[in-house]
Amino acid sequence: MINQAIVIFGGSGDLTKRKLMPALYNLFNKGVINANSKIIATGRTKMSTQDYRLFFGDMDDQFLTIVEYLVLDPHNERDYIILKSRLESTGCSNYLYYLATPPSLYNVIPQNLKKVELNIEPNEIKECAAQRRIVIEKPFGYDLKSAEKMNRDLKTVFSEDQIYRIDHYLGKETVQNILALRFANSIFEPIWNRHHIDRVEITAVENMGIEDRGGFYDGVGALRDMVQNHLVQLMALVAMEPPVKFAQKEFRDEVVKVYNSLKPLSAQEIDSRVIRGQYIESMINRSKVLGYRDEKGVKKDSETETFVAIKLNISNWRWEGVPFYIRTGKRMPTKVTEIVIHFKKSPHKLFSSLASVPEQNVLIIRIQPNEGIVLKFDAKVPGKGFNVSQVPMEFTYDKLAQNGIEDAYSKLIQDAIVADSTLFTRSDAVEASWNFFDPIIAHWNSGKAPLYGYPAGSWGPLSADSIIEGDISFTNPCKNLTNTNIYCEL
Ligand code: BG6
Repeated sequence: MINQAIVIFGGSGDLTKRKLMPALYNLFNKGVINANSKIIATGRTKMSTQDYRLFFGDMDDQFLTIVEYLVLDPHNERDYIILKSRLESTGCSNYLYYLATPPSLYNVIPQNLKKVELNIEPNEIKECAAQRRIVIEKPFGYDLKSAEKMNRDLKTVFSEDQIYRIDHYLGKETVQNILALRFANSIFEPIWNRHHIDRVEITAVENMGIEDRGGFYDGVGALRDMVQNHLVQLMALVAMEPPVKFAQKEFRDEVVKVYNSLKPLSAQEIDSRVIRGQYIESMINRSKVLGYRDEKGVKKDSETETFVAIKLNISNWRWEGVPFYIRTGKRMPTKVTEIVIHFKKSPHKLFSSLASVPEQNVLIIRIQPNEGIVLKFDAKVPGKGFNVSQVPMEFTYDKLAQNGIEDAYSKLIQDAIVADSTLFTRSDAVEASWNFFDPIIAHWNSGKAPLYGYPAGSWGPLSADSIIEGDISFTNPCKNLTNTNIYCEL
């Protein structure tokens, strides 16, 4: 097994401490990274390797001996010479550069790596078949133009197959399970289309606010932070055609086709199909919760959205006419991500139903928490007469994962180490997604679109339901998720 040298830029940052190092520790314990490998965390903060290791006191020494800290200013070319000599001391190793930095460094760091030839794969210059790869975190650009520039700049240093754009949603087991559900079973695929599906809802809501990320979030907003990347990825998995095989090119080709099939929205359609909101001060459990504009780092007159609900149409043979409703928000009643597939009503009403529940099958794919799948169907209510009522059939994912579900970062970093880019976002997908969302952002920036307030802790602006056709509203997930059930009546 070839050794790995992993260089983290932004080594003293929050992402590294919370996600990357625990994931690398997990991979070390699994044997994916061996004791001859090296992790070089770099950062501007001056500290010794000894001091750096103290952040990770709960990890054992065997692992920590492969962790080093290097003081490196990303702008300083000379620091890369020191990095190079550290890397060369690892012998013939794969180098994986992880950019856990602000996007303003996504061009600076690769260009400086290039200056000292740290992008060049050694089989071109000496006898060692090691590879060089770079992992970058979203945001992949700010709009189509900046994404195109970012892709162009990166490709002057690394080729597309060396670039791993990480979207941690694709690393989630339950997200990958959408593919298994659709393509490993034969019962769903025949009904997975406009003839049988009435509408699809994708909800990813959080009860948290923006925490201490005000400075970052205020320039970004919910559409760029969640919808343009994570949520359209979920939509693509639900909507894509079966790839010929589960491999890098075939899978990612199908994702891009879905993005390219999104029906563009005119300014008028944006107003009626895209609702944006911003949370305002309210009381939750008798405590005052700040409004968005009062959060640290946020402008007092900020127009940044913390909530988006959008109705999308995928113009292709399978999905024509089936609306996809996507909704995300901060400071909502709970933290849940789920996909709800509503099937069409039965064509003829034979029985009377109890309550107001429509005779409509619903499949809920719960991404988090209490991961699992629920199929709701009608059953006869015991007793006289012939009344039907809806009942859930439930599968919880923890039944399969005795040792717990592996975190998304472990999965994706392992994939990057073994050069499997299937679950990483390709440049054409990034651009296709921006191509669709750019007009929405431009319309909002024109100042003509309304921004609705919603009380922190609520399900968002009331007008969000107006984008749904007919007399129906969004399916709100169960608020009380302390039990293990996926589904519960509200
Ligand atoms: C990140 C966003 O990409 O995803 C955050 O920047 C958001 O704002 C987070 O909170 C949600 O991720 P998860 O895995 O907790 O659903």
